[in-house]
Amino acid sequence: MALDLYKYVASVPDYPEKGVIFRDILPLMADGAAFKQATDELVDYAKDKKVDMVVGPEARGFIVGCPIARELGVGFAPARKKGKLPRKAISATYSLEYGTATLQMEADAIKPGQRVLVVDDLLATGGTISATIDMVEQMGGIVVGCAFLIELKDLHGRDKIKDYDMKALMEF
Ligand code: PRP
Ligand code: ADE
Repeated sequence: MALDLYKYVASVPDYPEKGVIFRDILPLMADGAAFKQATDELVDYAKDKKVDMVVGPEARGFIVGCPIARELGVGFAPARKKGKLPRKAISATYSLEYGTATLQMEADAIKPGQRVLVVDDLLATGGTISATIDMVEQMGGIVVGCAFLIELKDLHGRDKIKDYDMKALMEF
């Protein structure tokens, strides 16, 4: 029987600053059955999309994206926080629910025309995922879907990616 994944998300008030409710997915990742179910459900979402590459932003996007890429039998390209990549990189700057940041990808991570699934743990304001999509498109990739464990409805991140197909397993 399917697990109730909501039971594996810890809600922490006033972290990292007052007024934010942090949705902590580490309990979900710590439970083998819950983590498998969650990633399997996102693989199901993606499996008919002819995905060539999965892209996920640092750091929690790596944790969710890698098992999905492996299960789909495709590669994974990280979108890293600025200053971590040794070779030629492209960048996109964005604002977060709390702060601003720049993400980078290696400039040849995606080949023109490749079909890309973008994966992250959580959609909040949509800044992170939009910056990631921006870089995929700078390289000529085609974003065929965006997959999340969690969508924070009140922050309306979905509006920023309304031109793309998306799936979130849980809503808060
Ligand atoms: C969190 C989360 C998403 C992003 C969502 O990452 O993992 O990537 O925020 O927020 P947004 O939709 O408003 O952009 P964070 O930048 O805190 O980095 P981390 O994964 O390294 O903790
Ligand atoms: N990233 C952005 N907002 C977040 C939140 N409320 N909980 C967990 N991760 C987040």
